[in-house]
Amino acid sequence: MKHSDYLKLKKELQKHNYLYHVLDKPEISDYDFDKMFQQLLDIEQEKPEWVEPDSPTQRVGGAPLKQFSKQDHREPMLSLQNSFSADDIEAFHQRCLKFLKIDKSITYYCEPKFDGLAVELIYEDGLLTGALTRGDGVTGENVLSNVKTIQSVPLRLNTENPPALLEVRGEVLMQKEDFKKLNQFQQDNGETPFANPRNAAAGSLRQLDPKVTASRLLKLFCYGFGAYTDLNFNSQNDFAKVIGAWGLPTINLTKKDLILITDDVHKVIEFYHFVEKQRHHLPFDIDGIVVKVNSLDLQNELGTIARSPRWATAVKFKPEQGQTIVKDIIVQVGRTGALTPVAVMNPVKVGGVTITHATLHNQDEIDRKDVRIGDTVTIQRAGDVIPEVVSVDLKKRPKEAVAFKIPKKCPECHSTVTKIEGEVVSRCVNPICPAVVKESLKHFVSRKAMNIEKLGEKLIEQLFNNQLIKNYSDIYQLNKKELLNLERQGEKSVSNILASIEKSKETTLARFIFSLGIRYVGEQTARVLANHFGDIKKLENASMDELVVISDVGPKVANSIYNTFKNKTLTLEIDKLLAQGIQFKSSKKLKPSLKGLNIVVTGTLPLDRNEIKQMITERGGKSASSVSKNTNYVLAGESAGSKLDKAEELGVPILNWEDFQKLITNDQ
Ligand code: IVH
Repeated sequence: MKHSDYLKLKKELQKHNYLYHVLDKPEISDYDFDKMFQQLLDIEQEKPEWVEPDSPTQRVGGAPLKQFSKQDHREPMLSLQNSFSADDIEAFHQRCLKFLKIDKSITYYCEPKFDGLAVELIYEDGLLTGALTRGDGVTGENVLSNVKTIQSVPLRLNTENPPALLEVRGEVLMQKEDFKKLNQFQQDNGETPFANPRNAAAGSLRQLDPKVTASRLLKLFCYGFGAYTDLNFNSQNDFAKVIGAWGLPTINLTKKDLILITDDVHKVIEFYHFVEKQRHHLPFDIDGIVVKVNSLDLQNELGTIARSPRWATAVKFKPEQGQTIVKDIIVQVGRTGALTPVAVMNPVKVGGVTITHATLHNQDEIDRKDVRIGDTVTIQRAGDVIPEVVSVDLKKRPKEAVAFKIPKKCPECHSTVTKIEGEVVSRCVNPICPAVVKESLKHFVSRKAMNIEKLGEKLIEQLFNNQLIKNYSDIYQLNKKELLNLERQGEKSVSNILASIEKSKETTLARFIFSLGIRYVGEQTARVLANHFGDIKKLENASMDELVVISDVGPKVANSIYNTFKNKTLTLEIDKLLAQGIQFKSSKKLKPSLKGLNIVVTGTLPLDRNEIKQMITERGGKSASSVSKNTNYVLAGESAGSKLDKAEELGVPILNWEDFQKLITNDQ
């Protein structure tokens, strides 16, 4: 291997990293990338003297720290004056005009206000040598090892002639999807969930072990600069263009409509409303827009006042928070027996939606926030996440308010609840607790499980309370007479219910496994298990050794499956269901006709989206949720939206339902 070939390979990897993480437009598969990466590692093992700090292998290398070292910013990191409305934008414009003593227009550069935490990247001779948090604006903490794990941050600027010094400032974020996954993980592992993506990003960046940060998938958007040498920018726009070309992630590289350069203040106001509407469709949180005077000369002339520049303002969106009073705290028992405290509140409108309930997660969270019945609380909604209590206004606390404790007995069946050492969740472990049974039945009939369309949650409650069902198999024994006796049921609705129960008997093994509600076995794992075993009995009898070797099934999941099937009541129940005529279609192994293909499904199609995804995975393919260069086909039904646009933009072949069927017909 020649040194020049090594450098070529390194450059190639840097390029693909940039295409994937900065531009969101990968050109090679993850598999090919991993192969190249491994090649680089192999070479570096043989020639350690070639390794430089900008090698992609150097992103996660640092050992855990005892504490972060402090470092002063060369230029203080200021904050922004906040404004809240269209009128405030106009007022900001007038202030700028007055200060500059000009009556003509001013050009503004507008972009989203990212809701994360600020960092400063320090590049010396093009190499990333430092990364500081904002701290108090004067002194920050050096989080370089952690920042290096953010894949969109270049370790070296992509230019032949880098300046001796360039400090770039930006915001570190966690995407909403990654936040949801992280919190699910935290909860599953008995850790405290994060309140919002910003806290999760902050918690992840301030980890002493860079490996933890690396696992958290952070993003960065650059928006400003600190100190620099040898450079000559005229404007904010100039700066963005230059750093964008050097490989730094800026928002205009991926979302051009989220940048506006205009000398018309009315356009700024329109942009503010436009971005506010986009807010919930973005993969990350923003909390306003930032309006900056574009010209750097004018910026200098305007200068700063107190600790904020006169040349910029943050125009915040209406908060998705509200204040209300907690009337009661109730405890809900879920399918897994987990006791979840929920605040019942006076109705309050937050971001256009009326909210009456907010989750309090668990006892640790209640204690941390010290929420009591009668308290005035701030609640917040973040996108489609369940509303939650953020904080308590202690000044408004009534004298008689007492701290809330999750009961020691299950509110539904009164058996003693257990709390496993190290877990934050209290659980009712009574397998016949009515709440657990009802929730399990609801799960069993739900759309992604047995899909008994006409058996909704209310009807399950009614049937259970009338003692008509208690086990899954009871559902298949319901008769017309019993159903007609229920309130609000007539001939027509009863025959619909019975028909949908009958229809559900023909299902797939994957759906059946999922419907059993085994802890940690979601839809995807159920599919993997169905493909692997092809037979429910084989799964029931699988040993721990057989389970842990399956990819996607870790020891925790294997353990849960193994223990669940040790329960003979469940296996007898399964036998009963099979005897009642539950059958699995396509449980025979299909030809892997879609092997290696990634098919994204979008729009309205003749079958349920999950069924189609299953058809794809059963045939060896995979179905990602978003379109990228790695997508082989997009299967598009009616009213397909942005995924279809993206496919057209990337030139990904598009299939209609007939095409798709042709693709899979020769597989039996
Ligand atoms: S420009 C003088 N642009 O908001 C500071 N800041 O309240 C100039 N922020 O500390 C900052 N998105 O962390 C700027 N597009 C953006 C921003 C942004 C988020 C944050 C930044 C700053 C805080 C100011």
